[in-house]
Amino acid sequence: MSAPPPAGVLVASNRGPVSFSLEDDGTLTVRRGGGGLVSGLSTAGQGTGAVWVCSALGEPDRTATRAAPSGRLDLAGHDTGGLAVRMLDIDPGTFARAYNAIANSTLWFVHHLLYDTPSKPVFDARFRREWASYEAYNQAFAEALAEEAAEGAKVVVQDYHLTLVPVLLRRLRPDLRIGHFAHTPWAPPDYFRLLPDDIARYVLEGVLGADHAGFHSRRWALAFLDCCADVLGAAVDRDAMTVTHAGHVTEIGVHALGADAEFLRERASRADVDTRLAGLREAVGDRRVIVRVDRTELSKNIVRGLLAYRELLRTRPEWLGRVVHVAFAYPSRHDLPEYREYTAAVQRVAKEIDDEFGTGDWQPLILHVNDDFPRSLAAYRLADVALVNPIRDGMNLVAKEVPVVSLLDEGHGGCALVLSREAGACEELGEDAIVINPFDVSQTTEALHEALTMDTTDRLQRTKRLAAAAVALNPQQWFLEQLDALDA
Ligand code: G6P
Repeated sequence: MSAPPPAGVLVASNRGPVSFSLEDDGTLTVRRGGGGLVSGLSTAGQGTGAVWVCSALGEPDRTATRAAPSGRLDLAGHDTGGLAVRMLDIDPGTFARAYNAIANSTLWFVHHLLYDTPSKPVFDARFRREWASYEAYNQAFAEALAEEAAEGAKVVVQDYHLTLVPVLLRRLRPDLRIGHFAHTPWAPPDYFRLLPDDIARYVLEGVLGADHAGFHSRRWALAFLDCCADVLGAAVDRDAMTVTHAGHVTEIGVHALGADAEFLRERASRADVDTRLAGLREAVGDRRVIVRVDRTELSKNIVRGLLAYRELLRTRPEWLGRVVHVAFAYPSRHDLPEYREYTAAVQRVAKEIDDEFGTGDWQPLILHVNDDFPRSLAAYRLADVALVNPIRDGMNLVAKEVPVVSLLDEGHGGCALVLSREAGACEELGEDAIVINPFDVSQTTEALHEALTMDTTDRLQRTKRLAAAAVALNPQQWFLEQLDALDA
């Protein structure tokens, strides 16, 4: 069999655009992943022979992925929008150290300011071994990309799992045009400096291996520039948005990923969503509805959100029996003890609310902890208020999806948005949302009350403006912007 032709456009990310399941008869079923990047790439990448390099072990079902061979997968006959996919066969121990210990317990914690600093982080010999695995993981991506890329190809590397790939790939293939995109916030220099000095430098130099480094918001882009100036002493031009370091210039760009309106409207109109909507309607009756949808993620601030709801019921008894909080908190990163503890904390507070206020005919809180996308869409259609209160968030697409979907049903009247000032989305949505400090529970309580009592005309007008802002840069355009930024 001859080798597949080299690619002119490549994407690299930890999780891939397809997911697998192993059927009872042993056959491997491939499904196209949801999400904006996949739909964006399948349109933008058409005719370019785009190849997506990802890690098989990012898959939740490891049994299934072990059946996936290394090298480009044969996806003929599967709905992947014409994508070719190469899954890397990474040793599970290396993967676990790179993904759990470094990407999710170190870099994610740094960028989201999540450390409880009197006890963590601890950078010791064990950390150094974990770091070596992160480097090996990044090196494996760089080598696969170098192998797959045509002369002068454009490569867009996604997220904090792969911060070293740009510099490692440039060493192997100086002819390529390389981009990096951070879906997370970027830490301010004082916090970024928690990292050991050599590693703080390496992470920055890793990203600066790219010709273009993209962020969801101006705030994160500026924080990155500050780190480059303070930690590396690099030449930073904040007007031109460039960093010059080691003789190489990296352009910094802001590309605020928007919601995929077409996909959302179509998906949210399907029968499985209608069925779930009917079920939710029956459960809440004619009460007002506050909705939240998140991964059970430390940065999402679910516990303070529940505390704010409890304070609303305690301090404004007029809401007793008249409101329901529908909270969907889906499982995430359960290999990490902090996430398991956080999930338990969410369930504990939820139970306290139920015990304190629940009556025979009123369930004040409906909490679901298992993933169900159609049910989330049904909740968006039902919501009077959406609560999005992260401690810190690269973008937060829920804040953008809710207004779009809540306009689907005529006569629904839209949805008021309570939004953390620390979410990247606040840069575009702040004007028409009720903006909160996510640490201030009492302020969040007041914002919920204001949102519940918002004048109906005002609410609908705001929802329309929020929806328009939310779709300003759809995933296809967002992806094309990243490619255009790599034009020499
Ligand atoms: C964030 C990251 C993504 C990541 C997602 C889910 O949005 O920016 O890169 O894929 O969380 O996290 P997981 O660890 O489940 O891939």
